[in-house]
Amino acid sequence: MRGPRVVFPFKQSYCRPVNGLTALGPRGPPDEGALSKMSFTVAHITDPHLSPAPMPGLADLRLKRVMGFINWKRGRERLNDMALLKRLVADLRAQRPDHVAVTGDLVNIGMAAEFQRAALWMETLGEASDVSFVPGNHDAYVRASMPLLEATFAPWTAGDEPRGGATFPYLRVRREVAIIGLSSAVPTGPLMATGRLGKTQIEAFAALLRETGASGLARVVLIHHPPIAGITPPLRGLSDASAFQRVVREFGAEAILHGHTHQQAVRSLPSRAARTVGGAVPVLGAPSAAAAARDPRYRAAYHLVRLDREGERWRVRARARGLAPESQAIGEREALSV
Ligand SMILES: [Fe+2]
Repeated sequence: MRGPRVVFPFKQSYCRPVNGLTALGPRGPPDEGALSKMSFTVAHITDPHLSPAPMPGLADLRLKRVMGFINWKRGRERLNDMALLKRLVADLRAQRPDHVAVTGDLVNIGMAAEFQRAALWMETLGEASDVSFVPGNHDAYVRASMPLLEATFAPWTAGDEPRGGATFPYLRVRREVAIIGLSSAVPTGPLMATGRLGKTQIEAFAALLRETGASGLARVVLIHHPPIAGITPPLRGLSDASAFQRVVREFGAEAILHGHTHQQAVRSLPSRAARTVGGAVPVLGAPSAAAAARDPRYRAAYHLVRLDREGERWRVRARARGLAPESQAIGEREALSV
């Protein structure tokens, strides 16, 4: 039986007005103490798989779509709870983060109606300048989804400056934080969920890490697939994860946020160029924001990732808010040991 229909409200801005504000106020540079207190919180929410998945019509029939629809009916339809997602978003808004990061899989089988719904949902998160998006494999489900993907999410993938016509990687600088969005979403065959960045994107990513690192910014990287080789099952991983790791090892980053596995996970990548207090790059995966799962690692939550400047370095902390372990209440969950 299906629950009550949920209608997401239109634009309700809740983020602090971070754009246009820099550490420099109208009366000139602040004192050193004020600069050292720079703190920025990114809310990371991922993989809502907005439901229900529409049944493919004759014009939309593709083997992968039909298989995806059957899979959704058999599993995700029961697990995905849109009323729960709505409550989670309300909780996220009440936390008033400085920025919201969405790491993909808003749609299920890449149909036009799903993209329209995805745009409405993105608008509930805040002003587009305060919300960044990177796509997941479901957002690039079949080749025909790609133009829809690009057009639908343009407001949330617009970089501060155009970079030669390519959308990814994009760079959005907010105060002293560089948000770098990557696309690992590529159309694949049935039963596959692999991701790929490609040589051109990886080279541009390296340049962005180098430039923003030289400017002393905290670099927060958004990517759908976990960018660590060997941690996802075959046919589900990032095929060029090792190239990603090489770039991060050489140029550093201060946080990497991903989705895809629907599982809460804290990992790290070594990098001498990282300017975190601990010296490594935290790699944080969040569970699906709509999953009414029993297992706490998979139970719906979002992360609040906070970056505090400490001299030349950044202290990165993260905590989770979501469904309580034994009730339907949404509130504070565990702190993540970053
Ligand atoms: Fe995914």
